[in-house]
Amino acid sequence: MTITEMQQEILRLKKENDICILAHSYVAREITEIADFVGDSYALSVKAKDVPQANVLLCGVRFMAETVKILSPQKRVWLSNPIAACPMAEQMDKEMIAQVKETLPGYTVMAYVNTTAALKTIADVCVTSSSAVKIAKALDNDKILFIPDCNLGAFVAKAVPEKTVKLLQGGCPVHAAVRPDAVKQAKALHPEALVLVHPECVPGVVEQADYIGSTSGIIDYAKASDAKEFIIGTEISIAEQLQYDCPDKRFFPLSKELICPNMKSTTLVDVYNIVQSQCGEEIVLDDETIVQARRCIDKMIELGG
Ligand code: 13P
Ligand code: SF4
Repeated sequence: MTITEMQQEILRLKKENDICILAHSYVAREITEIADFVGDSYALSVKAKDVPQANVLLCGVRFMAETVKILSPQKRVWLSNPIAACPMAEQMDKEMIAQVKETLPGYTVMAYVNTTAALKTIADVCVTSSSAVKIAKALDNDKILFIPDCNLGAFVAKAVPEKTVKLLQGGCPVHAAVRPDAVKQAKALHPEALVLVHPECVPGVVEQADYIGSTSGIIDYAKASDAKEFIIGTEISIAEQLQYDCPDKRFFPLSKELICPNMKSTTLVDVYNIVQSQCGEEIVLDDETIVQARRCIDKMIELGG
């Protein structure tokens, strides 16, 4: 079977088996091509609320599939590949944050959506990279404990100086590995290029950027810009996708090491196997976790919309 034939089979089988495919923009292009919806983590969360199909296959990482299940508990939800877990989401657990909370009375726990369902049960509000600043501003509290990403948290703290934002030492190992010197080197090679970066990068990288935003934010900015060259500081698939979509512009990854092995672990064959025989990993969460974790996701959608 060729890739195109497999894609055609997936389109037929997902219709036959009433499955909606939601894909994060970081997954491989042959998968985003056959998805019902592709977006950043905020857009995927909003979409998950009103998908018409009875079943959802999430192509991305585990916390995204858990978010779909929390928002649509009556649906069957599969994760495209059981090993696809965001390491940042596992860095802090519920017990640890409960202890920190005790030392910070009166603080709102703002959890990046890249957290486990269990950790979300004790968060007050969730955010994504595209909604964090807006939600921090809208929140009716000026004291925020931001978990787990200290880089996104530092970006929020800078954008909302009127609030006190406490940070813990967590973060994305892929984005945080890019050093500030990489920006200088890329600019030396491409002096006309604008630098667009994800706020999961360290402050020394973010400070040198022309634009800071989520995966969708970066895509939209580059497409709307009159500039012709861009250095892209997020997972390498975004530079690739932009190059396909905008052949008259040029896109350079900020670092060739910006590859998320978890997002890349899903193959078209994984997708084919699940739509064909529903043999993948189904997300199962207990009712208590779903109810408790849903509060902070609903709050995110209420304040971030
Ligand atoms: P977005 O919120 O931009 O989709 O980012 C998700 C993510 O995991 C980035 O590394
Ligand atoms: Fe997690 Fe980083 Fe991969 Fe995003 S890029 S899924 S934050 S490890």
